Amino acid sequence: MDLKIIKYGSHILREKSIEVIEKDNIALIVENLFSTLKKEGGLGLAGPQVGIQKRIFVIDTSPLAEEDLSIPKIEKAIVNPEIVGFSKENGYYTEGCLSIPGIYENVLRPKNIDVRYYDINFNLIEESLDGIKARIFQHEYDHLEGVLFIDRLSSMQRKLLSRKLNRIKNR
Ligand code: CO
Repeated sequence: MDLKIIKYGSHILREKSIEVIEKDNIALIVENLFSTLKKEGGLGLAGPQVGIQKRIFVIDTSPLAEEDLSIPKIEKAIVNPEIVGFSKENGYYTEGCLSIPGIYENVLRPKNIDVRYYDINFNLIEESLDGIKARIFQHEYDHLEGVLFIDRLSSMQRKLLSRKLNRIKNR
C-alpha cells in the first residue's frame, strides 16, 4: 500500500520515534515503505515520514545506480539503528528529502560511520559504511530523532531558503 508522505511543518517529523519490537508487523511496514519510496522516487524513507513513529527506515539506491554504474544497488530495511562511530573526515553531498519537496542543498556530514542495526528478521548487523550508504543512513537516522537535513545547513543557507520553506509549511 502506498502511504502519504508527511511534509515539512508537521510536528510528526519533529518527534523522536520509538523502538521497533518483534511483535510489530515489520514485513508489512517494510513493504509499504518500499512501495511508497519507489512511487515517490527517493533514495530513502523513514517511518515517521509516513506517520509510523518507529525506528525503521528503508534505503533504495537504484535511482542512482541506474545513472552511475560505480554506485552499488542496495535495497535494505534498517531496524532500530545506532550510529556507534563517526569518521573525523567530513564531506559535502547534495541532499533532498521527500518531506521537503523541491529543496536540494549541500550538507556537511562525516564521510564514514560505524553502525549497528537489525534486519527484518531481527538479526543484529554491525558494519562500517562509506560513500552514498553512509550518507543515506545518516539522513534517514536523523528522521528517527526528529531531525531534518535543513537543520544541518549553515545559517546563511537556511536564511536563503526561509521563504521556500514557509511555502511548503503553509501549503
Ligand atoms: Co528525508
